[in-house]
Amino acid sequence: MEIQTYEHDVLVIGAGGAGMRAAIEAADAGSSVGLVCKSLLGKAHTVMAEGGVAAAMGNVDDRDGWKVHFADTMRGGQYLNNWRMAELHAKESPDRVRELEQWGAVFDRTKDGKILQRNFGGHRYPRLAHVGDRTGLEIIRTLQDHSVHKSQISVYMECCIVRLLKDGDRVVGAFGYFRERGRFVLFKAKAVVIATGGLGKAFEITSNSWEYTGDGYALAYAAGAELLDMEFVQFHPTGMVWPPSVRGILVTEGVRGEGGVLRNKDGKRFMFDDIPENYRNQTAKTEEEGWRYTQGDKTAMRPPELLTRDHVARCINREVKAGRGSPHGGVYLDISWIKERIPNAREYIKKKLPSMYHQFMELGGIDITIEPMEVGPTTHYTMGGIRVQGDTQMTSVPGLFAAGEAAAGLHGANRLGGNSLSDLLVFGKRAGEHAAAFAKAQGAGWIDEKEVASSQSWALHFMDAPKGDENPYKVQQDLQKMMQAQVGIVRKEEEMLSALEKIQQIKERALKVQAPANREYNPGWHTCMDLTNLVTVSEALTRCAIERKESRGAQFRDDYPEKSKEFGGLNMIIKQGPDGAMQLRREPTKPLPEELQQIIKDMG
Ligand code: FUM
Repeated sequence: MEIQTYEHDVLVIGAGGAGMRAAIEAADAGSSVGLVCKSLLGKAHTVMAEGGVAAAMGNVDDRDGWKVHFADTMRGGQYLNNWRMAELHAKESPDRVRELEQWGAVFDRTKDGKILQRNFGGHRYPRLAHVGDRTGLEIIRTLQDHSVHKSQISVYMECCIVRLLKDGDRVVGAFGYFRERGRFVLFKAKAVVIATGGLGKAFEITSNSWEYTGDGYALAYAAGAELLDMEFVQFHPTGMVWPPSVRGILVTEGVRGEGGVLRNKDGKRFMFDDIPENYRNQTAKTEEEGWRYTQGDKTAMRPPELLTRDHVARCINREVKAGRGSPHGGVYLDISWIKERIPNAREYIKKKLPSMYHQFMELGGIDITIEPMEVGPTTHYTMGGIRVQGDTQMTSVPGLFAAGEAAAGLHGANRLGGNSLSDLLVFGKRAGEHAAAFAKAQGAGWIDEKEVASSQSWALHFMDAPKGDENPYKVQQDLQKMMQAQVGIVRKEEEMLSALEKIQQIKERALKVQAPANREYNPGWHTCMDLTNLVTVSEALTRCAIERKESRGAQFRDDYPEKSKEFGGLNMIIKQGPDGAMQLRREPTKPLPEELQQIIKDMG
């Protein structure tokens, strides 16, 4: 069977923000770059980071700076972060945002013409540079515009990678297929960057679209890389809950940043009831104070709706479970109330949150300028992922790099909103730069034809004569429902142990799924292959969640509701053992250098 073959210095798998930024950097360093995207260029989960990109530019509040951003990120991540990444990220994100502006991104402006910044959860000062509530989209558009004219970048759309190819320890290429016609493709490369985003599709309710099946994690794991802290999955507090067909679609945190408040069915602002100890000195005591903060009063503290996402999601969950939720199993998010405070509130909301206005009007028949939205948590982001070195983004496998949501470390146990967009800019650039340098220093690797042939046979075996009656969509759906119910926002040991058993059963079933017919236009066949990745990442996530016997950040354990000192200093590392089985080990976190410790202390 004929295999199309392409050769590049650097292969970037994934063409969202991180992948495009990596491709630009590698191309600028003189590398020829292959940029692979699972769907069409420009369609990526990056667009779901709507409310802004976090960068301590101090345009709205000059008390901001990299040290405060660093301290906020570490506190939000509950100190499990890779501190080197948190430091680089806080220092470099302002330059990355200004660079985007030079490349044509049209940010909202302050009155004196600087890039406007808004409030977001866990950020002490207004820090999110934004374009209404379409920031991710603008970033993707800008990166796309900037990259498509570079002759060194070749884009391969609707292309899925199913295996990384190795020469000894080193990654030297990838094998995959084009979704449309099912034709196989071989990429030879001196370095590979994984930028495939997250695993939201392991859960039933998610802001992620169909592409996010944990492919990059599974590819890296199979190639011998380590996965880090996979238990930390972010449930964004506000997704749509009604109508059912749109459940999970993101409702940007920008709504709360602009003064939106959360209420239960009794009209109570329940977020005031539960303010974590370590945020007490940064949280408003009264509704009035919270409003003043939203209006830029520097003496006021932020409203409790702008506490970190892990906490807000759990508070919403608690209200719903206690029977104080909205009719469709969420709570109310209200921005329309600001009409009591400002003139022209309707125009203001439509200007600041145009997508939210449109989204609720078109999909739910709700006018958010006059009535509240119903919202509830939705699986949004994976803090865990492929373990990388902070400076270079290289994994433990030579030649293999990762960036953006696919990589782990920056966010620790919980990510602050807006830190995803700055993450993908800062570390996308670094991954591209170091992958290009690696490629330059290496000769081309040797491609093992046997590995190519076995990858091809594996892909084709889903079309062989019937082995059973398993439908890939049904198996995927069963996995998603089970993960949502048993490894979701609130976790307990017995449910997760049972989840692990069910994952083993699903793994067996996933071996029997089949997609007869032929390779052309056969999404069932693609789902068979995606399913394998989903099973691997679900297992990794569940094993880590069981092993971390504490509640921290995005992981809440009903049976261990407190933080533990012991686990506060431990990362969970997943690696494939020599026998092919998944191995988990605990590893102490790297001690924080004194000067960074001092910064955290100083920032209170
Ligand atoms: O709510 C939001 O706009 C999402 C932002 C993010 O995930 O960073």
